[in-house]
Amino acid sequence: MPEYLYKVSAAGRVNLIGEHVDYCGGKVLPCALSLRNTVYVRPNGTKSIRIRWTDLPGEVTLDLGRLNEYRSLKHANYPAGCAYFWEQAGHRLVGCDLLMDCTVPFGSGLSSSAAIEVSTIAALALAAGEPFDPVEVALVAQRAENIYVGVNCGIMDQFVSANGRAGHAILLDCKTLTKEYIPVRLGDCALVIADSNKPHDLVVSKYNERREEVESALRTLQRRLEVNCLAEVMPYQLEEYKKMLPSVIYRRAKHVVEECDRVRRAATALRTGDAEGFGALLNASHASLSSLYEVTGRELDSLVGAAQDFRGCLGSRMTGAGFGGCTVSLVKQGEEEAFKAYVSARYERETGYRPSFYPAAVCDGIITENL
Ligand code: GLA
Repeated sequence: MPEYLYKVSAAGRVNLIGEHVDYCGGKVLPCALSLRNTVYVRPNGTKSIRIRWTDLPGEVTLDLGRLNEYRSLKHANYPAGCAYFWEQAGHRLVGCDLLMDCTVPFGSGLSSSAAIEVSTIAALALAAGEPFDPVEVALVAQRAENIYVGVNCGIMDQFVSANGRAGHAILLDCKTLTKEYIPVRLGDCALVIADSNKPHDLVVSKYNERREEVESALRTLQRRLEVNCLAEVMPYQLEEYKKMLPSVIYRRAKHVVEECDRVRRAATALRTGDAEGFGALLNASHASLSSLYEVTGRELDSLVGAAQDFRGCLGSRMTGAGFGGCTVSLVKQGEEEAFKAYVSARYERETGYRPSFYPAAVCDGIITENL
């Protein structure tokens, strides 16, 4: 059997701030992580894509002529959707073997799905001997997730998975896809990622429900305001037209417009290394996601509450879609171990779940190697 020709990986991500605003045209501030999906790839001279996993049994064969038909596969749904939409976007596919190795924990809110999608598309392009544009890769990956997998996600995860830069967060404008890389330098503080280990079953239905709620807020406000998306609404304008919105819809919109404002301030705090200011914005973001957007739940609130009470922690919030998954905290360097011990004990006492902690090394998005 020929050896694999290329090794290509794409990153999981942690979003520092700007939650549930990417699909409202807002700005987000995510980082690509050293937790990644790696694909080993070689052309196989057939008319099919054969996929194996390092940690899952079995093999899946996707017929190149029937890529539109595999919508109910389990793990292979993501690569199948990506291959289908990559071809639909005008790219050539060749038969190839893919071996997948994922270190992004599944269902943790660190975007294992985006890492799988983005690395699959890059692998397919390499197998066909074609160059690829990471922005296009991200857009096709999002399309696969929206249409093939059925999650109506925004562009943040796929974008950072493909375009992340080591040591930097991306300030991404999700309306225009313009980006600025900002070094992640926050004085003597480190980022710590904690997993609530709470399974998040309802995430897809609740996620799609939040999207509908903010879209309905936008439609109502557009009767009075000339805006294309909720991120263009200023907080004072929302107050002015508050009475037009049912109270739940108003609270969802209030989270979005205020979170957009927090992202602006957080970007300034990051550029100037203002760790205190940055931490305070993380706390405010979590409070809003908990009380206005209602995507946290008992476990994430407990995990964040414990983190915020630790004296060496400057700020903490949930990250990703919510309803379980991970938190990100800003902790004084040298205090990380004491932080983990304190947070673990309190979280386990309060919820019965034991948290996991992951390294928050900030890496490049796509990394390609010839073997
Ligand atoms: C998920 C989605 C993203 C984004 C976040 C919430 O990770 O995939 O597009 O909406 O939730 O910020």
